[in-house]
Amino acid sequence: MRKPVIAGNWKLNKTIAEAKALTTELVAGLADVTDIEIIIAPVFTALSPVADLLKGSPLQLAAQNCYPQETGAFTGEVSPLMLKDAGCQAVIIGHSERRQLLKESNELINQKIKKTLAADLKVIFCIGETLEEREKDLTLDILTTQVKGGLLGLAPEQMTDVIIAYEPVWAIGTGRTASNEQAQEAHSFIRGLLLGLFDQATADACRILYGGSVKPANVDGLMAQDDIDGALVGGASLKAADFCRIVKFE
Ligand code: 13P
Repeated sequence: MRKPVIAGNWKLNKTIAEAKALTTELVAGLADVTDIEIIIAPVFTALSPVADLLKGSPLQLAAQNCYPQETGAFTGEVSPLMLKDAGCQAVIIGHSERRQLLKESNELINQKIKKTLAADLKVIFCIGETLEEREKDLTLDILTTQVKGGLLGLAPEQMTDVIIAYEPVWAIGTGRTASNEQAQEAHSFIRGLLLGLFDQATADACRILYGGSVKPANVDGLMAQDDIDGALVGGASLKAADFCRIVKFE
């Protein structure tokens, strides 16, 4: 019922030449995939050259961040409209690295989500608890605050363009994946939050991705869970063979 999404977050990696080389490999390896939505997110400087290579392929392009203003005196920032102009179909918003390193608040993330949707782009909205929060048994509280804060004021119709990515911070880049059961429990809880905030149809239709050390070796078990609709992949998305295998999960 929900079309799976596999997204690659390239983070702060790859020059333009390297990004183009990886994209060429992915386009060749994934040309025949029609039943999975595939998204790649290079750095800002590589977006436009990668967009050129994606023309005519089923792969979509995402940016890793945006600023919630269209134009103006905001030195160093990039707006959703400019990302669309560069060829993007989506923007990753609220990644834990930005929440932690750049102190992004739920309020700022909410503004970014609204501006991105207004520019007719899809949002990959990231949430997830730290290890400390999990150990203090605060996971569900944190997820509740992040989901309610990030989606504040959105209408149910707008949720068709929102993909949620549950990424427990302790599983990101650590090689320590959440177990299938831990991930399923969090995803099912998040879907319940959507039911409370919106309605049954919205909760049923929303794609919820898992992120955190997803690899060819663990993707199949994760994707077998009822409420896991895809993956947001970091490290393994930088290697064409690994990312192609993750997209072709079994
Ligand atoms: P890793 O797959 O490298 O753990 O990164 C996950 C992530 O943060 C994707 O956004």
